[in-house]
Amino acid sequence: MPLLWVLRDVIGLTGTKFGCGIAQCGACTAHVDGKAVRSCVTRVGTVADRGITTIEGIGATPHGRALQNAWLSLQVPQCGYCQPGQIMSAAALLSEVGSPSDAQIDAAMAGNLCRCCTYVRIRKAIKQAAASQATAQRT
Ligand code: FES
Ligand code: FES
Repeated sequence: MPLLWVLRDVIGLTGTKFGCGIAQCGACTAHVDGKAVRSCVTRVGTVADRGITTIEGIGATPHGRALQNAWLSLQVPQCGYCQPGQIMSAAALLSEVGSPSDAQIDAAMAGNLCRCCTYVRIRKAIKQAAASQATAQRT
């Protein structure tokens, strides 16, 4: 059974979305031990003993909280469907690169599609979140 099915249908955590089901859109992105994975193609049996984080829990992490604040202040979403996956990929990026360049953001986010084309605001929000974390670390 895919991890996505367990998250949504067994546990009832419906923030993680089903888009394509074939690892092509990023709507189902969750974290396994802090790394972004496509939960639609991740067999739950391969991750059962690992740390799994979804959009419901990412706000409890510093990166996730900073990203959610930036998403809100810049009003990133339009329909919103892709946005949980976008934030999860962005959080995985910020955990590896504290102040990502445009190219690093584009590379990390390339697998997350948005039919509403919110890409420009997503990039801006990631930069705002990174800057807010850098400021917080200095104070
Ligand atoms: S639903 Fe998993 S990548 Fe599209
Ligand atoms: S906000 Fe609509 S698909 Fe991304």
